[in-house]
Amino acid sequence: MDLLQWDDSFKLNIPRIDEQHERLIELIRDLEDAVQDGTGGLLISYVMQELIRYVGLHFGDEECLMMEYDFPELAVHRQKHSFYISRLQEILEQNRDGDALSTATLAFLKEWIVTHIKGTDQEYGRFIRATQT
Ligand SMILES: [Fe+2]
Repeated sequence: MDLLQWDDSFKLNIPRIDEQHERLIELIRDLEDAVQDGTGGLLISYVMQELIRYVGLHFGDEECLMMEYDFPELAVHRQKHSFYISRLQEILEQNRDGDALSTATLAFLKEWIVTHIKGTDQEYGRFIRATQT
């Protein structure tokens, strides 16, 4: 099954966040395409930079939302975000010379984000939805 196939199991039912998650999945899919097409390191670096920029904005937005609702697990969640951003930055650094991304690295980037959205993010989604009602 394609991990990056968008479906309702990704949804938090918070429209702004769902849109951002959908865009994130699209970017990872672009990255996967660039790796599989063998188009080379330049395109991969470009998509990676866009991914880092967008992930930064999105994680910031999520953390603001959690703060707004006093989500008790904010600190732990923030650590997870920082971990992913630092891994992305490391990978981009290693890729600056134009090397293609390894299958293992791509698998890590995909699996982490899918697991994060479907697991960790669902926790704050449930909390916020419960607080709203
Ligand atoms: Fe998150």
